[in-house]
Amino acid sequence: MLTHESPVLVTGGAGFIGSHFVLDWFSTVGTPLVNLDKLTYAGNLRNLLPVADLPGYHFVRGDIRDRELIDRLMNEFSPRAIVHLAAESHVDRSLVGPGEFLDTNIHGTFVLLEAARAYLDKLDSDDRAKFRFLHVSTDEVFGSLKPGDAPFEETFAFRPNSPYAASKAASDLLVRAWGKSYGFPAVVTNCSNNYGPLQFPEKLLPLILNRAIHGEPLPIYGDGLQVRDWLYVGDHAAALRVALEKGVPGQTYNIGGWNEQANLDTVQMLCALLDEFLPNSPHRPHAQLMKFVTDRPGHDRRYAINATKAERELGWRPKETFASGLRKTVRWYLDNQAWVQEVTSGAYREWMETNYGAR
Ligand code: NAD
Ligand code: TYD
Repeated sequence: MLTHESPVLVTGGAGFIGSHFVLDWFSTVGTPLVNLDKLTYAGNLRNLLPVADLPGYHFVRGDIRDRELIDRLMNEFSPRAIVHLAAESHVDRSLVGPGEFLDTNIHGTFVLLEAARAYLDKLDSDDRAKFRFLHVSTDEVFGSLKPGDAPFEETFAFRPNSPYAASKAASDLLVRAWGKSYGFPAVVTNCSNNYGPLQFPEKLLPLILNRAIHGEPLPIYGDGLQVRDWLYVGDHAAALRVALEKGVPGQTYNIGGWNEQANLDTVQMLCALLDEFLPNSPHRPHAQLMKFVTDRPGHDRRYAINATKAERELGWRPKETFASGLRKTVRWYLDNQAWVQEVTSGAYREWMETNYGAR
């Protein structure tokens, strides 16, 4: 029988948002959790050292596309939910090599849906009613907004522009179809850009911070006036926990912090914080390192989330402001340069050099 004490199976729990979800889980809910992660370049078990020895925590290294493995985990752990975060997540990588994005994000989600459906078929109706599949997605499925357009609502049409966004939109549509066709109990969240500690330094904030700390040029794509709607990762982790408990199957919820910022402003804020935290740095003022570079192909101009539904129906609200979240983030990267060195060595560096050369 499924109870509140039954485990949740998390995919991608060693990634950026997944790590925060797992850490948040054990500091709030604390019931058993199984973390299935392939440990690609983006997965890092060190993120999870604070929970590694807890009796309720289980780590399994494996691929979401491995149906036999997923079946085995479902039978062994009898989870009450799957929280699906595993994905290839970086737009620039998807432009260079879209295949892995389609395989992981679309086919991987399909395998999980089918394994969960087979598992549900074996449950009695009480347990079936308790099971949830929380599909974690992005606002990028909605495409790009023009200045003055209303922020994305759950009902907006999908207009993905990058291979990453298209692969996530496809996975969202699979989840929707499984809900409609099979009564599959899925809840979907579409969140805006996350930032915070433990983010792999290929995404804007950690990339800028690490380059600025070392006095390297700060690449600003195009005119830098693209707008992103930033949410502190801890607030996203909390939103996912609440969506798992209160989200209604068949519903989607937009998650965001009403925090639109032009990239230039975000980079300038980071530089100002570094100037403050590193008064003796030879690279001050760090903003002088900014360098306009060729724009990303198909670069989405503006993302903005209308999070009214999540606030009203889930009772969730972000706790951090952009000012407080940025301070925490800059402090964390300054204090954790060893982490950065570790994750930027090896596979990631090779990939960067092959595809981008030195910049
Ligand atoms: P991430 O790239 O930091 O982590 C992804 C994790 O998935 C890694 O630990 C990786 O090892 C694992 N993984 C990749 N392929 C796998 C596979 N085939 N099998 C098992 N594990 C695999 O990503 P993130 O930024 O933490 O994003 C997590 C989820 O949230 C993704 O689904 C992403 O689309 C979504 N999302 C991200 C953001 C953001 O700003 N980062 C915003 C909204 C939604
Ligand atoms: P990114 O962190 O890659 O997230 P996403 O593409 O999913 O929004 O990029 C955030 C914004 O920053 C996006 O408009 C692209 C821009 N950007 C730069 O200007 N320079 C960079 O080096 C990177 C990585 C991103």
